[in-house]
Amino acid sequence: MKLIDCKDRIEEEKLKEVANCIKNNGLVVFPTETVYGIGANALDENAVAKIFDAKGRPNDNPLIVHICNEEMLKKLVTNVNEIEMLLMKHFWPGPMTIILEKKERLPNNVTCGLKTVGIRMPQNQIALDLIRLANVPIAAPSANLSGKPSGTTIDDIYEELKDKVDYMIDGGISTIGVESTVLKVVNHEVVILRPGKISPSDIRKLGLEVRLDEHIFDEVKEGDKVESPGMKHRHYAPNTQTILVDSKEEDFCYEKINKKMLEILEMKKNERIAIIGYDEFSSFYENKNVTYISLGSVENLNEVSSKIFQTLRHLDDLNLDVCMIQGVKKKGIGIAIMNRFIRACHHHVIKV
Ligand code: TXA
Ligand code: MG
Repeated sequence: MKLIDCKDRIEEEKLKEVANCIKNNGLVVFPTETVYGIGANALDENAVAKIFDAKGRPNDNPLIVHICNEEMLKKLVTNVNEIEMLLMKHFWPGPMTIILEKKERLPNNVTCGLKTVGIRMPQNQIALDLIRLANVPIAAPSANLSGKPSGTTIDDIYEELKDKVDYMIDGGISTIGVESTVLKVVNHEVVILRPGKISPSDIRKLGLEVRLDEHIFDEVKEGDKVESPGMKHRHYAPNTQTILVDSKEEDFCYEKINKKMLEILEMKKNERIAIIGYDEFSSFYENKNVTYISLGSVENLNEVSSKIFQTLRHLDDLNLDVCMIQGVKKKGIGIAIMNRFIRACHHHVIKV
């Protein structure tokens, strides 16, 4: 495995070398604005199969195909309607994956046999250059072993993936920190299958109707039909027992969450506990025998989202008994943040 440093500067010669590896059906970890990806030539079945092996990914969870221009899009999908065009025009390059009808030429293992494919044009110069130089679309899930939090820095995923790929490109920290918004247009309505930085209100601003898929916050039950296979798999969960303390939507209140947490701390006096919370509340927990980890200010949820996966990854290093996470308002990127928290907690949620 060769590590390529592009943190401060992108050297085209070095990227060409990595692009050649993609062309020759190798595996590459590369940065995007959301999270790191582990990519391969989307047009080659054997290259794609290597991604599933490297991640230990279930073979019913389809991959996202990354492109760098419209020409690539046309070769991959068909029957694109006006709403889909509008979404792509508005949100690309950017953190949106759109589910479209796939053309025959895309190997079946990319989509796990589905007739649709998730396509994304990332807003990261290294990723765009890599796709352009490889001159093939790149199939890439998030860079992490299946079930683990997605990687947002090379340091976090180096050990986990170093023996499984040919190259790793270090592009510094992923700015958004949660994966792209996955959406699908159904009967003229935009359905969000996985929330991300692009929120329902961003989409409504284009004059479109939008709704969240029911499984974004609710657990997938036996026999449920899921629109996005990724929703039914275990994800983001640390080994430390993790509980989300949330407030009811109608009258969301941080005070109530803090009160409940302080009560729980009182009850669990003999346990080693961490709280994942925010700058505004850290002083409440001083001298309370708890490790308080702040994700930043609740007034700046973009900063919060960029720190989630790193924090969840390092939680187990602290060797604690329990971790409580403080919920945030399900608004804007807060929807994506709460979706990741709920899944990290295996739907173990206390609502106050
Ligand atoms: O931000 C991102 O999207 C990152 C970066 C690397 O681009 N990629 C990423 O990929 O998060 P992954 O594989 O971890 O998540 C892909 C999600 C899964 O939940 C999968 O089920 C869903 O997209 N998906 C892919 N193709 C689909 C399809 N045809 N229909 C419905 N859902 C699909
Ligand atoms: Mg993933």
